[in-house]
Amino acid sequence: MFSNLREDFPTLRDDNPPAYLDNACMTLRPDSVIDAIKSYYEKTPGCGGRSVHRYAMSVSRKMSACRRSISELFNAREVGEIIFTKNATHSLNQVAKGLSWNKDDVVLTTDREHNSNLVPWLQLEEEFGIDHRVVRSNDDNTFDISAFEEACSDAGNSLKMVSMSHVGNLDGVATPIKEIAKIAKDYDAMVCVDGAQSTPHMKVDVQDLGIDFLAFSLHKMMGPSGMGGLWGRMELLENMRSITAGGSTVQTSNYDSLVWSKPPDRFEGGLGNYAGILGTAAAIDYISAIDLDAVHEHEIKLNKVMTSVIRDVNGIDIIGPSDASKRGGICSVLLENIDAHDIAIMLDEAAGVMVRSGMHCVHSWFNDRKVNTGSLRASGYLYNTEDEVKLFAETLVEAVEALG
Ligand SMILES: Cc1ncc(COP(=O)(O)O)c(C=O)c1O
Repeated sequence: MFSNLREDFPTLRDDNPPAYLDNACMTLRPDSVIDAIKSYYEKTPGCGGRSVHRYAMSVSRKMSACRRSISELFNAREVGEIIFTKNATHSLNQVAKGLSWNKDDVVLTTDREHNSNLVPWLQLEEEFGIDHRVVRSNDDNTFDISAFEEACSDAGNSLKMVSMSHVGNLDGVATPIKEIAKIAKDYDAMVCVDGAQSTPHMKVDVQDLGIDFLAFSLHKMMGPSGMGGLWGRMELLENMRSITAGGSTVQTSNYDSLVWSKPPDRFEGGLGNYAGILGTAAAIDYISAIDLDAVHEHEIKLNKVMTSVIRDVNGIDIIGPSDASKRGGICSVLLENIDAHDIAIMLDEAAGVMVRSGMHCVHSWFNDRKVNTGSLRASGYLYNTEDEVKLFAETLVEAVEALG
């Protein structure tokens, strides 16, 4: 469906391009993003928001325009609600460490969070005594709304934060954030969404979802690596502490006092990744011109193809629901008695198929189930084809049958 867009991606224009199926880790970048990064260094290598010469003014203008396009993409109320960070991990840490906590405040997460949305809360539990609790999923990793309602009711007035991934990187399963946010608001709790795996693949409207924070990662949205973002409601950002205090985070400073800048500047200490921000602007332009509902449909179609080839093979167990349409573009499998890394290397060397192997930074899920071989994860995106996912699935089956 999107095969005409393959021409936009340099690595896909090679004579013998790989079947790149590691998009949940990092997507490929189109020419426009690469050109924007190059153009920063070649044409306007200045700093944003500080100097007033032509290079710097050009960067400052492009930064503002980029913030505006991100705010439009997510339907933010104010442009100043968009904060540039270095990745989704940085964004989630800013939320966790920037808010004020009391001992025994309850924070709820799911049982299948990326470490980026688990470790900051575990750290707060260790250091400040907050009470981090896990809402168990159903057996097929889908969200258990009754378990969530029960957890909210158990926490009662102590419930302060519900922080959950919108789509899991382990299995592609989506969390019903809108429903979750509605329930959380009955308890006056804040809702933070880890959107690293949703924002590249579906329309995300922060007003419609009724949430308070959204963390996202540009390198999963065809943007530069080392770039992420945080959206937060202005009334919360205004009272949030900066975890990167320094240059540009204050309006002024004295030897013994300071006046903090307003958001977003308060949270963007030090010189920024300006090449990355210009690349981000190009990535947001690119993604905004694409019908994300159609991307989602395309990914499900690819997932159905992979799933149908491997579903009934002995020694391969799909993580999550058997129905591929409930796993977006992700097909993640457990391999009986085979190390996932060995198969990942073989797939690349023998068939030119690039996938991810290991625990995908969701160690807690694997440790809970005492699985130490990790999983093999193929994750498709708009430029992938049915032939590529078929190649992945058939080569995997051959390898498992040969080794099994
Ligand atoms: C669900 C999820 N959350 C958070 C992250 C961390 O993203 P980043 O590398 O931008 O910090 C990832 C990365 O894979 C992810 O998949």
